[in-house]
Amino acid sequence: MTTYKRPEGTDDILPEQIPLWVRLEAVMRESFVRYGYAEIRPPMFEDTKLFYKASGDTTDVVEKQMFTVPSRSDSEDSYTFRPELTPGTLRALIQNGLFNQRSMWKVFYYGPMFRYEKPQKGRSRQFTQFGVEAVGSKDPLIDVETMAVFADILRGVGLTEYALRVNTLGCATCRGGYRDAVKAAVGESLKDYCENCRRRFDRNVFRIFDCKVERCSLLAEKLPAITDHVCPECKSHFEKVQAGLRIAKLDFAVDKRIVRGLDYYTRTVYEFSSQAIGAQNALGGGGRYDPLVPQMGGPDVGAVGFAAGAERILLALKSLDVDVVRPDFFIVSAGNDAREACFKTAQELRAAGLSGDLDFEGKSIKAQMRRANDLKARFTVIIGGDELAKGVVNVKNMEDGAQTTVTPSEAREIIGRKR
Ligand code: HAM
Repeated sequence: MTTYKRPEGTDDILPEQIPLWVRLEAVMRESFVRYGYAEIRPPMFEDTKLFYKASGDTTDVVEKQMFTVPSRSDSEDSYTFRPELTPGTLRALIQNGLFNQRSMWKVFYYGPMFRYEKPQKGRSRQFTQFGVEAVGSKDPLIDVETMAVFADILRGVGLTEYALRVNTLGCATCRGGYRDAVKAAVGESLKDYCENCRRRFDRNVFRIFDCKVERCSLLAEKLPAITDHVCPECKSHFEKVQAGLRIAKLDFAVDKRIVRGLDYYTRTVYEFSSQAIGAQNALGGGGRYDPLVPQMGGPDVGAVGFAAGAERILLALKSLDVDVVRPDFFIVSAGNDAREACFKTAQELRAAGLSGDLDFEGKSIKAQMRRANDLKARFTVIIGGDELAKGVVNVKNMEDGAQTTVTPSEAREIIGRKR
């Protein structure tokens, strides 16, 4: 018989892993809402051209990693499964005329992304991102706010061992001069860099800074820092970001190696990372991308955002003990005659807002009790011939072992009360 395997670079998220996911999702939503971000859900795939235009055609993501399918219409068009959600979010805000209603939008998103990468720890072909886009302000404090909500989420799920590194990429005015300075400094030594860096030299020389090859990082250390080349406006913006980070009490380091892998960034860029998860240590990153919004047909209002990798955060959290959600009850049928009564009782308890389960496999009383234990049910409700005859149920508190025989409505009250 053929056995089927999941596609390379994808994961099955199994029931035992769900409590961690649910916790991350709950903390994420609560934090975003507390900071005034509203959820947006653009589609899973978009017109391929959107990514060429927005993510940038010299980026690895667009050059090598897109899952693209024909649109199946007569045209040459194709669709691409979103490798990131910044382009789709902007498209949605602009296409739906949201800027006619209000000049500033703070939105968040959560869902799967797709990149055709070489799978490794922390790097998959389908992965989950949550992120924000704050479109409508050039204020450096909103850059800081996006970092603050990211840090709140990390702390909220119990991840305190992380580093925040920030940098500025300048703007169209100052970046040209910096690019020339970096190229001149690389000069003759280009041959000593890895093949990837040599290729990037002409197309996007800044990517040399985040090359993971040790020899390249050592060489890159000697290259000029952008902070010595930015124009007065970009310099002032970056200083205000750093002042804001201090106001928000966020620890950070300025690091010229943070250049980001997507084309649209200007000024502030940042990354959160964790040493606990190996080579792919970026938990998430983002930055400002002011020119992209008008390029896509929106207003020239300024924009900043980030996206975080949920799997990487969970990887970093894995060692932490997370409480499983305990059901309120498990109903044990003492004999086959009681099965319908057990089902009826379960339905009544569920209708009263309590959570729980019962056996559907005809298991022995002992096996049912074991299941109640495994589930860590707070109460076991036992119904057998005697209880059936008298119209009562036996309720056992699994914490202290106390047992009592009561009417079904009393049972409901007892189980509900102790939550
Ligand atoms: P990004 O740096 O490409 O940025 O991705 C953000 C995060 O997604 C990464 O730091 C990482 O945690 C996770 N991630 C990326 N690729 C993978 C993968 N193959 N497997 C597992 N996790 C992955 C963006 O996507 C930008 N849209 C962020 C942004 C929003 N900038 C402005 N607004």
